[in-house]
Amino acid sequence: MNLRLLTTAAAIALFTLAGCSKSDSGDKPTEAATIKIGQIASMTGKEATFGQQVDDGIKLAIEEINNAGGLLGKKVELITEDTQSQTPPTKTAMEKLVSKDQVVAVIGEVASSRSMAAAPIAERGKVTLLSPASTNSNVTLDKDGKTLGYVYRICFIDPFQGTVMAKFASENLKAKNIAVLKDNANDYSVGLAKNFTETFTKNGGTIVEEQAYEGGQTDFKAQLTAIKAKNPEAIFVPGYYTEVSLIAQQARELGIKAPLLGGDGWDSPVLTQGAAKEALEGSFFSNHYSEQDTSAVVLEFIKRFKAKYNETPGAMSALGYDAMNIIAKVIKDGGKADAESIAKGLATLKDYPGVTGKITIDAQHNANKPAVVLQIKDGKYSYYSTIAP
Ligand code: PHE
Repeated sequence: MNLRLLTTAAAIALFTLAGCSKSDSGDKPTEAATIKIGQIASMTGKEATFGQQVDDGIKLAIEEINNAGGLLGKKVELITEDTQSQTPPTKTAMEKLVSKDQVVAVIGEVASSRSMAAAPIAERGKVTLLSPASTNSNVTLDKDGKTLGYVYRICFIDPFQGTVMAKFASENLKAKNIAVLKDNANDYSVGLAKNFTETFTKNGGTIVEEQAYEGGQTDFKAQLTAIKAKNPEAIFVPGYYTEVSLIAQQARELGIKAPLLGGDGWDSPVLTQGAAKEALEGSFFSNHYSEQDTSAVVLEFIKRFKAKYNETPGAMSALGYDAMNIIAKVIKDGGKADAESIAKGLATLKDYPGVTGKITIDAQHNANKPAVVLQIKDGKYSYYSTIAP
């Protein structure tokens, strides 16, 4: 992992250097020799595995596209900007891709809060932003609730994901009393907590305690002590893996035995490292894909991914792969590699056979597709069920 991180960092450094020397040379701009696709991704920082996994998926797709002759006679070139898992660098990254690099589309971000920070820049610069994984319902909307023309996603949204886990809690776990522990500094977490609560209480369940933390925090004992006092049957923790991993360990230290429930933000090879492996045993979360899926498209993807990286792909690699292949498809089908044509192609995408399911983009620029529920068993994600919208 560390070696991998270092290699990635070195590659970015080299790339940045190469980029600088080119733009400093003062050459007259000619027609682009490549089709430039941008990426904003958390390659470093608190959610580094999100960015790294998406990046792996995108690069595999680009390698395949270029090996097959590229798009409209040109090679695809990826320009990745690191958001460092933070909002301010996300805006700088997006500005650079839109203004300086003049990419035709940008893939990213994973975190909803960061996609929401980049969205107005995409809209203003008229460059399509395609999020592979941001699930908060507001990502594709402006503040008045109108759909943004240049912002799309290929994943389901949290009103659906929240319903999936709430129904799972009532129907499969037969739980009546649940506690919620959310990240107040994270739009995804706040939204998913609300979506879960709405469905769970509508179906007769009770939220016996709601507690909050702020992403980056490392001590959750006060919140967990308050939760323990209410003796819930499960705790819904719609956060990101870095905090969830610590929350699980501290919950067990305090003697809480209830399983934790969560959403896609748990997905990371780091989630179950160390003592978190035992702490999370038996817990459940919803996600976009299962590596145990035996459909032909998933098997083929896993085979190709393993051949390149010698690793089993996580959900975000699958989403990155789908996002890049969908952009390639709309460029090909539209016969043009400009933002306008790409946006139009995405708006009308129907039944695309993705690794993460069949993808159709709706009027709010969201994808309607099933979610999977996974259970953590021996530190691995074991497929439990698929739930359609
Ligand atoms: N859905 C999360 C968000 O919107 C991001 C995420 C997606 C994390 C997929 C992990 C896996 O913030």
